[in-house]
Amino acid sequence: MPLTQRHVTPSILSADFAKLAVAVREIMDAGCRVIHCDVMDGHFVPPITFGPMVVAALRESLPDEAYLDVHLMIERPERHVAEFAKAGADGITIHFEATPHVEFTLSEIRDAGCKSGLVVCPGTPPDCFAEVDVDLALIMTVNPGWGGQSFIRSQLDKIRRVRAMLGPDVAIEVDGGVNPATGAECAEAGATWFVAGSAIFNAPDPVAAYHEIAVAVGAE
Ligand code: DX5
Ligand code: ZN
Repeated sequence: MPLTQRHVTPSILSADFAKLAVAVREIMDAGCRVIHCDVMDGHFVPPITFGPMVVAALRESLPDEAYLDVHLMIERPERHVAEFAKAGADGITIHFEATPHVEFTLSEIRDAGCKSGLVVCPGTPPDCFAEVDVDLALIMTVNPGWGGQSFIRSQLDKIRRVRAMLGPDVAIEVDGGVNPATGAECAEAGATWFVAGSAIFNAPDPVAAYHEIAVAVGAE
């Protein structure tokens, strides 16, 4: 799948883990194609979420057109790329702060047949995006680890700088505190992929919430 289109990418972190596939299918039936999977190891970030087995189970239970966007909040991600690729990830995004071997890991991701993503925490300068080739640049708009946090506005300028650095063709994803209002601001700054967890799955009507964000960011 080309990454050039705009997408709202629901984060399953805020979904009901006992009914993951059902929750995701409901949003896919509304037109969503990209599903954001947050992997946390209890080291890089304090919480532990899930690993390749859950990604594989989702892959099995979802239609082929589902694009699994796997955000690895784990230390030394190079040791786990092969497992997540085998589990059916379409894209794997690693943290710049999580390994000294960023370029190696991004190459490993592409060699495994996946789209490569690099992500920076709010306190990390974006210069690293000028040093490596990526299919997707992810700008954290909260500190990684938890859903439901408030959007950090200083990251809007970072989005603008990364868009200027990478040109129009690379997907720029934002993650954290995204709702229709903050999503629209990120779109204006140059973002094209919009992760939304609590704003979708904690809403009384997740499908309506998905549409509302998609319209606000120009994804539908
Ligand atoms: C946080 C995760 C996010 C999280 C976003 O570390 O990377 O993907 O699910 O949650 P919201 O959209 O609720 O801020
Ligand atoms: Zn995420």
